[in-house]
Amino acid sequence: MLYTENKFKRYTITSALPYANGPIHIGHLAGVYIPADIYARYLRLNGEDVLFIGGSDEHGVPITIKARKEGVSPQVIVDKYHAIIKKSFEDFGISFDIYSRTSDATHHQTAAAFFKKLFDEGKFVEKTTEQYYDETAQQFLADRYITGTCPHCGNERAYGDQCEACGTSLNAMELINPKSMLSGAKPIKKETKHWFLPLDKYEGFLKQWILEDHKSDWRSTVYGQCKSWIDMGLQPRAVTRDLNWGVKLPIPNAEGKVLYVWFEAPIGYISATKKWAEQTGKDWKPYWKEQNTKLVHFIGKDNIVFHCIIFPIMLKIEGSYILPQNVPANEFMNLENDKISTSRNWAVWLHEYLEDFPQKQDVLRYVLTSNAPETKDNDFTWKDFQAKNNNELVAILGNYINRIVVLTHKFYNGKIPTPEKSFEDIDNQLIEQLSQYPKLIGSNIEKYHFREALNELMNLARLGNKYLTDNEPWKVIKTDPARVRTVMNLSLQLAANLAILAEPFLPFTATKIKNMLKMGNFGWQEAGKADLLLSETEIGNAILLFEKIEDAAIDKQLEKLANSKKENEKNAFVPKAIKPECSFDDFTKLDIRVGTVIDCVKVPKADKLLQFKIDDGQGGRTIVSGIAKYYTKQVCFIANFAPRKLKGVNSEGMILSAEDADGRLVLITPSDLVKAGVNIG
Ligand code: MF3
Ligand code: ZN
Repeated sequence: MLYTENKFKRYTITSALPYANGPIHIGHLAGVYIPADIYARYLRLNGEDVLFIGGSDEHGVPITIKARKEGVSPQVIVDKYHAIIKKSFEDFGISFDIYSRTSDATHHQTAAAFFKKLFDEGKFVEKTTEQYYDETAQQFLADRYITGTCPHCGNERAYGDQCEACGTSLNAMELINPKSMLSGAKPIKKETKHWFLPLDKYEGFLKQWILEDHKSDWRSTVYGQCKSWIDMGLQPRAVTRDLNWGVKLPIPNAEGKVLYVWFEAPIGYISATKKWAEQTGKDWKPYWKEQNTKLVHFIGKDNIVFHCIIFPIMLKIEGSYILPQNVPANEFMNLENDKISTSRNWAVWLHEYLEDFPQKQDVLRYVLTSNAPETKDNDFTWKDFQAKNNNELVAILGNYINRIVVLTHKFYNGKIPTPEKSFEDIDNQLIEQLSQYPKLIGSNIEKYHFREALNELMNLARLGNKYLTDNEPWKVIKTDPARVRTVMNLSLQLAANLAILAEPFLPFTATKIKNMLKMGNFGWQEAGKADLLLSETEIGNAILLFEKIEDAAIDKQLEKLANSKKENEKNAFVPKAIKPECSFDDFTKLDIRVGTVIDCVKVPKADKLLQFKIDDGQGGRTIVSGIAKYYTKQVCFIANFAPRKLKGVNSEGMILSAEDADGRLVLITPSDLVKAGVNIG
């Protein structure tokens, strides 16, 4: 019995499959795996039928690039990181029913069959397009395998899908001077056939299913992102790639082609279910095909379009699957006020954390949950980590449990005292308040408000501490030992409740408390009661749940990060001194305008010079500029400089650009298209 719904007979809980090309960090844990684990553990404690799925995403171009760099096969890379990631999840108590992987044979079969079914039913649109091909390597080039100059900012190391300098997403065909990363050669354009999922045909379905049916139960951040995708209009999306790492196309004449990783990886949830069913002798189908199954995807916000739009469309077209009931995507967790970044080594890696803080998994689980990025990006800082450990886990939860266990040994040789027959008001109040907590915490979990749920758990520990302080058993024992038996019994009952209710959040701690109290296994619905522990039974010895984290340990972590920062700042930019003051009159002498680029050619015998034909709204003009290898739609230029000859070409103005410390040039361009020739000022 849940608090907010009881429509479902079983739960299929998925968590995004991490790419097996690196270890995982706190961002992964905070964004996806801890919330998913809390949810799964909570439902299990309620006796629900739960299948919690995880696994490694082992295909995709970045893995092949990493393999090439390291001179090994992609399989070697994914084997290595699959093992590391799997171990991190185990270490942190992420309670998957199965942790699978997409290089697995069952997955290849399942994904291929899914594609084949849609293919046979004519659900794809076939298109032949031109794509870059490396003649030396005899291979079509994935966007990530092509580098070149970004047409927007001039960064010479832009990738075929994105320029990391200016953040623009690109199409490989837009790159200036494209180069193959395989051979270094200039790629040629060659025709290739691909299959597209016509997302545009399913706009009506999405409008109903997301914008209407899930208007009120999906997080507004998730709903908002979906809405803007739908409002922008969906385009057909290729679901195949020319690549030799991935799930091969199960159709004739498709050598060298695989399924697009974002087409097959989510099917990994289904294939993992099949694997799990094989291993446990269960039937996989109800978990994906029965309407009374609740499917929930836990992901980070960068995965929203794939889990809310593309995968549901795939499931819908296939026809025999259920759709997700909710996709409680999280925003991002930053680290010390900066975006977590693998390439800049700005991260807290889970395996490194455990080396520095052995056995402190629950501390990290606690801090990441109490600060979970549920409604906006949040920040993890080491100072906050220390404060939450010392002021909350140690001072509130740890202190409470420790006090009552120690007192029980001191007063009663470790035996739970029998309470008096009649309770005082303060006792009845405690019992009444205690009885509310399972629902307070549980209904928040059911609504995916994990932060708030954890906050309520700590309120219960606070309540226990207050009860002890108000009743002062350590003093009263001298004058009224009978009264203390009641106080201590109820305090122990509250501790037993904490053990049950903490389990989804702090599983290691919950087990320790249960062992200390020598209590049995209770379900969530048994919590809230003040008679869980039998009087006159023995409890175990006090063990420390949490310990103070000293400044030195925190300084060490901050130093690690400072070193990463130093590395990153080596090429930092130092601004030039400001030029002498300029009057407004002087400024107005400059005639700065926007022009539209009509044409752009190289100036013969001048490596860096380009000759632009600019529409200036007044018949056009030519400007020669040193903004090497450049192309953009509109530029800003100074229109009233005297013309001058550059390498024999008459240049009638100057294009505005900026150059940063490492010589990277960016153009100053209007943020939106405007009429050619308008003034700037
Ligand atoms: N590997 C992806 C990422 O890390 C997530 C894949 S989720 C799946 O962003 F559904 F495709 F499996
Ligand atoms: Zn760029």
